[in-house]
Amino acid sequence: MFLVALGVTTYSLVAEKLIAIEFAKKELIGSQYLATIRKAYDVILMHREENGSARDIDDVLSALQAAEANASGSLQTSELQQEFAVALRNLAASPPTPGNPALLDALAKARVLAVRIGDDSNLTLDPDLDTYYLQNKVVKKLPDILGRLGELQIWGRGTGQPRLFLHQQRMRVLVANSLLRSDVARVEENLVRAYRGNSDGSLKREIQSVFALMISNINGYLSSASGRIDGNTRPTNASTVKFSYQRAVGSSIAAWAAAQSELDRLLNLRIDGLFSRMRFSLLLTGALATLSIFIAFLTYRHIVIPLERFEAIAREISESKDYSLRMEQDSRDEIGRLAKAFNEMLSELAAARDRDITEHSELARIQRMTTLGAMSASIAHEINQPLAAIVTNSNAAQRWLGHSEPDLDEARAALRRIVDDGHRASQVIASIRATFKKDGDNKVKLSVNDLIGEVLRLSSSKLQTHKVVVKTHLSDGLPQVAADRIQLQQVLMNLIANANDAMTSVTNRPHVLRVSSELQNADSILITVEDNGSGIDQKDRDKIFDALFTTKTSGMGMGLFICQSIIESHGGRLWASPGDLFGTKFCLVLPTGKTDDA
Ligand SMILES: Nc1ncnc2c1ncn2[C@@H]1O[C@H](COP(=O)(O)OP(=O)(O)OP(=O)(O)O)[C@@H](O)[C@H]1O
Ligand SMILES: [Mg+2]
Repeated sequence: MFLVALGVTTYSLVAEKLIAIEFAKKELIGSQYLATIRKAYDVILMHREENGSARDIDDVLSALQAAEANASGSLQTSELQQEFAVALRNLAASPPTPGNPALLDALAKARVLAVRIGDDSNLTLDPDLDTYYLQNKVVKKLPDILGRLGELQIWGRGTGQPRLFLHQQRMRVLVANSLLRSDVARVEENLVRAYRGNSDGSLKREIQSVFALMISNINGYLSSASGRIDGNTRPTNASTVKFSYQRAVGSSIAAWAAAQSELDRLLNLRIDGLFSRMRFSLLLTGALATLSIFIAFLTYRHIVIPLERFEAIAREISESKDYSLRMEQDSRDEIGRLAKAFNEMLSELAAARDRDITEHSELARIQRMTTLGAMSASIAHEINQPLAAIVTNSNAAQRWLGHSEPDLDEARAALRRIVDDGHRASQVIASIRATFKKDGDNKVKLSVNDLIGEVLRLSSSKLQTHKVVVKTHLSDGLPQVAADRIQLQQVLMNLIANANDAMTSVTNRPHVLRVSSELQNADSILITVEDNGSGIDQKDRDKIFDALFTTKTSGMGMGLFICQSIIESHGGRLWASPGDLFGTKFCLVLPTGKTDDA
């Protein structure tokens, strides 16, 4: 792509310069052709008119043919050249008499051919001011001037007797005279313009004097010839007129030759300039191309290749997750700094991943420890009650056996309760383990009212100790619930134990524990445990179900946490609210599982 762009630029640059060179070369061909025409004028006006040398005309004809051959393909002049050649041959064949029409015809044909050469060879479109004015305004006028000089000489000669001039001839001479003067004036003006357009002033140096001579000679001729034109003045000697005529024609031809050679010089200068500018442009383009290729090479080597390696490593890392891979790039440039930052990022990622792994395993360990701790705390909490009962019954058994007449029945009953409490303790432990491992499902259909009765019996001795009056309000015909008996017993025992604790500090009213059960709606049963104890502080209400939260000096803060875990694992809800007058009411909703029964 880059090479194509370069090729196109170079091509358009060379093409543009070649067009300009071709243009200037065509001008040069025209200029050379005009040099031949100039020689033809010389022969027609100077020699032919006087000496009638046919050999001179033959020379002109062959030069004309050579010039036409040189210009063919560039200029459309062959037809006019042939017409001019015919006119020249006619002139050669005609006698050299004054007012010879063949001479006038040859001058007219020469002028037409000269104009065509100027038009076809771009000379009239010349882009430079000096050559434009020199050719298009000055040299182009010279055939006119020479033609008019010839005309004037022919018509003005007559018999040498001014009074015998025909009126028509006189008019022609007057017109030719004034036209010649105006042509000369134009040439002067345009010379000034051509000098202005020539920046180094060489043109003026080369041609100013020859043109000045030409103008003065023409003016001299016009004034010497005017004697013959104007009948009122003294007629001028014919040989003087002829001499000034020859000087005017000769200097005009010389001025033309000088202008022509300047034109050629300037055109050659322009062509050389164009060539050297083209060479310079090509050199510059070549240098730029080399520089661009060098930059492209550096870009490829120092940017593209490292970036491709970057991409490959990034892809490999994303696939393998191997953060130990590194980008090898030791350079101090931007890519090197990027590679360094990339490698640092990889190290950071590897370290972060290691930290993450460590933190995860630490978290898992803490979770295990927490679970273990919660389980130990729960076991410790829940077997407290059976253990206390075992101690109490052991003491009782000892007392019954220690009497002078041991009461073996009572002692046996106490020992049976010890066995029962021991069983209960092991069942509680199994139940708690099952809860934490979240395996095993010991749910059975049971009657809530029966369960409440059991728990009140188990707690009775403690309640009696604290003089608590128990009031129950248990609805009849309640549906059974699917529950783990031991776990539900623990919940109710914990709630009753808390109620008992809350009432111990109350001394100004009887301690009353109210336990109720009722159907809350078609598929759930509401159980309430209400005391008239100290109540819960407003600030503690949100915390009482948290593990290890307690306001008691000897409490573990596990009772309500265990209760809530158990109730939630049964699909129920547990919450606390202030009692009707004093104390606290715990509400427990259990689903009846009626839909399962159906
Ligand atoms: N019926 C209640 N009346 C007043 N406060 C209560 C009642 N039940 C619980 N609380 C408050 O809730 C707290 C947490 O009770 P929770 O049963 O979880 O632990 P605890 O009774 O303090 O100790 P333990 O783990 O030995 O049961 C208690 O310390 C107490 O402040
Ligand atoms: Mg408690």
